[in-house]
Amino acid sequence: MQNGFIQIYQRNAEAICGEIAAGLLAPNAWISPKYLYDGLGSKLFAAICELPEYYPTRTEAQILERCCSDIARSTGRGATLIDLGAGNCEKAARLFSAVQPAHYVPIDISVDFLRDAVESLRYRFPQIRMTGLGMDFSRSLELPDAVPREKRLFFYPGSSIGNFMPEEAAAFLGRVREACRADGGLLIGVDLLKHEELLQDAYDDAIGLTAAFNLNMLQHINHLLKADFRPRDWRHVSRFNAGESRIELHLEARRDLTVVWEGGSRHFAQGERIHTENSYKYTPERFLQLLERAGFGRVSKWIDPQGWFMLCHARAA
Ligand code: AVI
Repeated sequence: MQNGFIQIYQRNAEAICGEIAAGLLAPNAWISPKYLYDGLGSKLFAAICELPEYYPTRTEAQILERCCSDIARSTGRGATLIDLGAGNCEKAARLFSAVQPAHYVPIDISVDFLRDAVESLRYRFPQIRMTGLGMDFSRSLELPDAVPREKRLFFYPGSSIGNFMPEEAAAFLGRVREACRADGGLLIGVDLLKHEELLQDAYDDAIGLTAAFNLNMLQHINHLLKADFRPRDWRHVSRFNAGESRIELHLEARRDLTVVWEGGSRHFAQGERIHTENSYKYTPERFLQLLERAGFGRVSKWIDPQGWFMLCHARAA
């Protein structure tokens, strides 16, 4: 079995610092949610997925388990399964026996983590060809020649699409569509709009894991930007913005303070916030429109009995 690992992503420290500083200096300060994920942040997110309040992970897993033969009938077998943001590859591995991919292509920006995950997966599934790709797929989906063009099945679980603004989500889905031939498709998980209280609890859990996840971003920024954020001076805030149909995460200054970094500084008044994440919640109709706008054709969908989460298989043609 021919296997490999291709690293495309190269960290550009100057561009990263420029982007973070620009966000901190904006009138409404913001930091991109991608900086939630350093070593500790990824572990905290994995722990969040185990929380009773954080329903998306287990609800999606239940749909995948309950409907896997239906899903396989829809996607067909023998595809090149391209896993966007593969992490530890476990979600895709749960699909292997039903979908039987000929080739598995996990993609993630956390190159070392992915390399280790693919290594151990190869032992468990020696019959599947695997090519790991270290790349930032949010910018471009130009895949190397080692990834066959035929029968591409993109896999984007976990409602990560909800972390894009709707316009960005549409553009991203358009790039996925362009990366498919007529025999390709996308299997995607989407968190659905639901009662506000359930959403609030999921993003402000009782034992404070989501707060730690949000605050840990400041330590990551200290490391990247050589800044002097003191997490104790900040408070985790999550709120549901009904007009935008999204949960927002913010960090709020507990007192007047000034943050200093190499090449810049910013004063924050008590109560001033840094916007750190959006998590959009869709109605099934709205998300299907987004898929249609991106150029996808027939869509099969599976929703849990409570109507909390949706899995879609969108065909390229
Ligand atoms: C990764 N993403 C889909 C998660 C979400 O629900 O938007 C990130 C997250 N943020 C706080 N809790 C989980």
